[in-house]
Amino acid sequence: MGRSSLEELSAPPWLTLLLGLAAAAGMLQVRGQRAPSVEGFISIDCGLDEKTSYVDVIQIPYTSDAGFTDAGSNHNTSAKYWTTRMSQTHRNVRSFPDTVRSCYTLPSLVPGSKYLVRATFRYGDYDGLDSLPVFDLYLGVNFWQTVNVTEVDMAEIAEVIAVIPDDSVQVCLVNVGSGTPFISALVLRPLENSLYPPANATQGLVLIDRYSFGDTGKVPISYPDDPYDRNWLPFSYPEEWSDISTAEKVKDNIGNLSLHAPSVVMQTAITSRKDSDSKTIQLAWDIEPNHVYPVPGCIAILYAAELEILASDDVREYDLIINDKRTKVPYRPKYLIAAALYNNEPHHGFSQYSFTVIATANSTLPPMINAFEFFSVISTANVGTDSQDVSAINKIKVKYQVKKNWMGDPCAPKNFSWNGLTCSYPTSGRPRITSINMSNGGLSGDISSFFADIKDLQYLDLSYNKLTGSIPNALSELPSLVGLDLMGNQLNGSIPAGLLKRTQDGSLAVRYGNNPNLCSDNGSCQTKKNNYMLAVYIGVPIFVVLVIGALVVLLMFRVRKKKGLARGSHGHGRQQMENRQFTYKQLKVITDNFKVVLGQGGFGTVYDGFLHDGTHVAVKLLSQSSNQGIEEFMTEAQTLTKIHHKNLVSLIGYCKEEKYLALVYEHMSEGNLEDKLRGKNCTDVSLTWRQRLHIALESAQGLEYLHKACSPPFVHRDVKTSNILLNANLEAKVADFGLMKAFNHDNDTHISTVRVIGTRGYLAPEYATALQLNEKSDVYSFGIVLLEVITGHPAIQQSEEVVHIVQWARLRLTGGNIEEVVDTRMQADYNINGVWKAVDLALKCAEHAPGQRPTMTNVVAQLQHCLELEREDHTNDNNANSGFYMKDDNGDRGLLM
Ligand SMILES: *[C@@H]1O[C@H](CO)[C@@H](O)[C@H](O)[C@H]1NC(C)=O
Ligand SMILES: *[C@@H]1O[C@H](CO)[C@@H](O)[C@H](O)[C@H]1NC(C)=O
Ligand SMILES: *[C@@H]1O[C@H](CO)[C@@H](O)[C@H](O)[C@H]1NC(C)=O
Ligand SMILES: *[C@@H]1O[C@H](CO)[C@@H](O)[C@H](O)[C@H]1NC(C)=O
Ligand SMILES: *[C@@H]1O[C@H](CO)[C@@H](O)[C@H](O)[C@H]1NC(C)=O
Ligand SMILES: *[C@@H]1O[C@H](CO)[C@@H](O)[C@H](O)[C@H]1NC(C)=O
Ligand SMILES: *[C@@H]1O[C@H](CO)[C@@H](O)[C@H](O)[C@H]1NC(C)=O
Ligand SMILES: *[C@@H]1O[C@H](CO)[C@@H](O)[C@H](O)[C@H]1NC(C)=O
Ligand SMILES: *[C@@H]1O[C@H](CO)[C@@H](O)[C@H](O)[C@H]1NC(C)=O
Repeated sequence: MGRSSLEELSAPPWLTLLLGLAAAAGMLQVRGQRAPSVEGFISIDCGLDEKTSYVDVIQIPYTSDAGFTDAGSNHNTSAKYWTTRMSQTHRNVRSFPDTVRSCYTLPSLVPGSKYLVRATFRYGDYDGLDSLPVFDLYLGVNFWQTVNVTEVDMAEIAEVIAVIPDDSVQVCLVNVGSGTPFISALVLRPLENSLYPPANATQGLVLIDRYSFGDTGKVPISYPDDPYDRNWLPFSYPEEWSDISTAEKVKDNIGNLSLHAPSVVMQTAITSRKDSDSKTIQLAWDIEPNHVYPVPGCIAILYAAELEILASDDVREYDLIINDKRTKVPYRPKYLIAAALYNNEPHHGFSQYSFTVIATANSTLPPMINAFEFFSVISTANVGTDSQDVSAINKIKVKYQVKKNWMGDPCAPKNFSWNGLTCSYPTSGRPRITSINMSNGGLSGDISSFFADIKDLQYLDLSYNKLTGSIPNALSELPSLVGLDLMGNQLNGSIPAGLLKRTQDGSLAVRYGNNPNLCSDNGSCQTKKNNYMLAVYIGVPIFVVLVIGALVVLLMFRVRKKKGLARGSHGHGRQQMENRQFTYKQLKVITDNFKVVLGQGGFGTVYDGFLHDGTHVAVKLLSQSSNQGIEEFMTEAQTLTKIHHKNLVSLIGYCKEEKYLALVYEHMSEGNLEDKLRGKNCTDVSLTWRQRLHIALESAQGLEYLHKACSPPFVHRDVKTSNILLNANLEAKVADFGLMKAFNHDNDTHISTVRVIGTRGYLAPEYATALQLNEKSDVYSFGIVLLEVITGHPAIQQSEEVVHIVQWARLRLTGGNIEEVVDTRMQADYNINGVWKAVDLALKCAEHAPGQRPTMTNVVAQLQHCLELEREDHTNDNNANSGFYMKDDNGDRGLLM
């Protein structure tokens, strides 16, 4: 078997090798006797009625093309051009009048394997226009050839041998403006990878001719004689060359199939005529250039075996001359043993290719050749889009039934990339989809989660469609996503935490207006009434037990000493959690085996951690031993998945494995406000008044959101400085929703809880004493927070006697001297009117009667005003403390006492 190139035939050892191995031959004959398997064959009769199939004359089953393509329309060819021996595939065609590129997808391939793909085009005036088209053919993303249909009743055949990189390949017809592309048949045959060595990962072989010399038959030799269903055209010109044949089988020369022709093909041959003086056989091909390969490279394969028993003094020996290049060592065909000679490197630069077999001077017999294949080479080096992207976008295409030009590879070739997609084309590696614009595309149904599989996605525009359902949080895990437009749909639910977090850290812009049912900062949550939310909490803080003493003569409850949280044993967690779920194992990785403790929370320990993408997180792990706290855990998790606001801590995910319950939050690097004001974090520079105002305002906004933006509204129930967390920019977010309750305004003005929960010093009187709870209870607690912010003092000062901060402040303010209460560490750097206003506000919030307390909306407005005063102060230093607010101020102060 000729593994060397023709130029290298001077090295003869391979010949001996081949002969030595002859005994191992015989594979083909064996194959020829059984009907070779059609396993792996794909045989499509294009344009055949859907769900129709048949077995053709050579026992290969054909199916219709429905399911292989979603473009084009079926037509029968004109019966005028039918013949009795015509292949059944020629009765009908599929044509593609509406699309520039139309593709078939051939599935279930073995990636990296070698295949033969053959397409047949027989016009047969299927459209009654009697007009022959010219169009291009692509194998995947690589140009294959131009199809020039030159006769109405003749089949044009395109055949390529190529290594297919993926588990499917597309064959695409491209309209080049010279008529409507159509196709009659498309087949794919698996080849052994060792066949056709010149066909490799980057080079494909396009068939020009394949001949069985000396064959006087009328039809090509094909399946089952050729197990790969190649078609060997009979070639016999007795006028020019003598035909020789044998009834004996010709053996393949080695057990290896790297090149071989079937025995029947090898059993016939041509030689130059005995009466001719010329001892040469000369063949020539014009090479048809096309617009992609103006001068194609070529590969020739010559198959030779001696078919005659030679007399002892006879020698058949010849040289090959290919385009004037002569082999250096002559070749002597061996009796009934096939060999193949070919050039491994394509010959380039010829527009005509001549191939001469010439007897050497010593040869007593004319040259003899049995078969011949001739190919031009194409590059198959272009690679299609990343296969995960392809798979995802195809699922999206199917889901929304996108037609447009969504066919073939989404990104490649660039010219044909799908409408609405933008791709990146790295110099090495596969193209990736970077943006998808399906705006105004008439899409309905929910948002496909497959968008989240397109990992390099930067922009996703789904605006102005009819999309329903909720927004998949998975989108937030697209690391490169910077723009998401969901405007003008019918989405419901709320913005998932992950996305919200991305918007807050500025890495993502989300547009979601004109979705009437979407719960956003502006809208109202369509939160379902959750029974678990009304769960009764049992147990009380020690402090409360002491204060309200006998009032609480209710059931028996366990007291949890640590923090006064208690819990019931109600059903929980039936709701679908939307956020990311972590396993305990993952948490171990995230927290580096729970290495750094950030704090001790209400029901467990909070650990420092990092997600694999570098996101800094805090992991709150429920105490392992207890089965308590599950209620709060679930409440918090469920709640956070529904509630999103820039001033409420974002839940990134959670873990719920048998005995492990954990919540994963965004990490708030500056810790909590309590520590910042007077704990371990306050040692360095104290917070300025302006920073404090910002923190107060932001916390108030978070609470206002809970009270106002959601329906039903939520009461936090545990507003305190240690539950207000600060990020690196000192932006405040309210945390710890484990105690939060939802209640419905329509039916109740307050919720009666069986037991008080919350934290000593922050509990509104009506709540602590009468167990009545509404938003005003939070307002009270916020008043305490605001006082702490202003004064730097804790809610309860425990010196000789217990002093509550409200008492303490009121007492000091009777003298009208604000400096008595303001935190001295601010070093008097503040607008005095602003501070007065803030103090007034705090004390109003802490009014005994809930009705006299402002709403959080009002609190937000007032704090904004304070901040404006502070800003004016800073922009106009000379007018510091100029008192346009004095009037209000005095009046209010009087009231306070
Ligand atoms: C083609 O002809 C067959 C019968 O000969 C018929 O069943 C089929 O519907 C025709 N197809 C088209 C597209 O006209
Ligand atoms: C198609 O074939 C015809 C006839 O051989 C030729 O004249 C024409 O130039 C070809 N067109 C293309 C685009 O190759
Ligand atoms: C078969 O072909 C492969 C490469 O195509 C080669 O590595 C191997 O040595 C061949 N086997 C024999 C027995 O020649
Ligand atoms: C394929 O064959 C061509 C021609 O011999 C060669 O240039 C190319 O590097 C080969 N590609 C691979 C991937 O081996
Ligand atoms: C032809 O045969 C003669 C004698 O057998 C030998 O010396 C010579 O090398 C041969 N020539 C070629 C080209 O093989
Ligand atoms: C593809 O683009 C190239 C250059 O950008 C152009 O020459 C060629 O005509 C285009 N092909 C098609 C089919 O649009
Ligand atoms: C998407 O396409 C529409 C027009 O079809 C255009 O208005 C919009 O700006 C595009 N979106 C993006 C993100 O490019
Ligand atoms: C959101 O819309 C989907 C589909 O229209 C519906 O099945 C689901 O119940 C809705 N959810 C809410 C909370 O309204
Ligand atoms: C929310 O409302 C504000 C002002 O009312 C508006 O500027 C903003 O665009 C709205 N946001 C959304 C997402 O609709």
